[in-house]
Amino acid sequence: MKPHRTKAPDPLFFQELWENLEPADHLTSPKHWNMRADGWIKKLEERPVYREKELGRVQATRDFLLGQDLIGPGKKVLDIGCGPGLFATEFAKTAEFVTGLDLSPRMARHAAAYARAQGQDNTRFIALDFREADLQTLGGARAYDLVMSSLTPAISGLADLYKMMSLSRDSCLHVSFVETRDSLRAKMIRDLYGHVDQKGGHWDGRVFYSVFNLLFWGGYYPVTSYFTYNKDGAVELDDDLIDRYTSMLSKELMGVDVSREAIQEYLEAINRKKGHLTRQTSENYGFILWNVNKKRNTTNYAKELS
Ligand SMILES: C[S@@+](CC[C@H](N)C(=O)[O-])C[C@H]1O[C@@H](n2cnc3c(N)ncnc32)[C@H](O)[C@@H]1O
Repeated sequence: MKPHRTKAPDPLFFQELWENLEPADHLTSPKHWNMRADGWIKKLEERPVYREKELGRVQATRDFLLGQDLIGPGKKVLDIGCGPGLFATEFAKTAEFVTGLDLSPRMARHAAAYARAQGQDNTRFIALDFREADLQTLGGARAYDLVMSSLTPAISGLADLYKMMSLSRDSCLHVSFVETRDSLRAKMIRDLYGHVDQKGGHWDGRVFYSVFNLLFWGGYYPVTSYFTYNKDGAVELDDDLIDRYTSMLSKELMGVDVSREAIQEYLEAINRKKGHLTRQTSENYGFILWNVNKKRNTTNYAKELS
């Protein structure tokens, strides 16, 4: 039988899949993240269910990294897009030193206060735009044992990924969504934009799929792991919830004019009628971990597939 040859996978395909959907303008603005910073801290302090979810995600990441011996004694860690500093503070309990960096000065201040309150003074938090900053300002080439990024638009394409890698002398961790489900979001899409399929223009796992394939194509050995968080119950109607649904629907319903006011009205109407909002959600996070020094010889398969 003739050997079967399929069409060569093209790394440009994965790069375009990732980079063609640029982050929405507000996601690249420090002003937006400054505004969200206070809300997040308030939610972490006042809502046990939210805190439990966030800490669960942090602990799953910590356990995965401890299992790979990456945040133990002597390790220097950088968290890009560190947000309120939960990861950095947790890792500082076992690592030598953790640097958190975030576009939003307000977020960096909250993160520093959180680390101090937890007694972790082996941390520092810097307000910087990762995409604009030069390597020296970020600490220097190969300055860290582990460089991580979780759910951040700081890493929005191949150039960002390679910049992140050049800061590490050992490993990198990239965390992104693999799948999210939300019964309220699905119902809202049906009721407000009936004719448009859910997830019509957006696929949650796009970044994970692209990053994994680009790394594998580049000769690295990406290791994967997953963490799922399910929740079923009431959700509070506030500005943050309306903002998040507006942002999600704008991404998902390409070509549809998504209005924040319409979403707010819709949610308020249910809230008035039922006295509360409920939903079933499931969030599946994907971890991609790789050693920047370990590479296969890619000459043969590049030749074979070209
Ligand atoms: C969704 S939050 C994620 C926070 C945290 N890493 C986590 O997983 O919970 C995204 C964070 O990335 C930060 N960010 C966005 N663009 C950035 C950039 N260009 N450089 C550094 N941080 C950035 C935002 O300020 C925000 O705190």
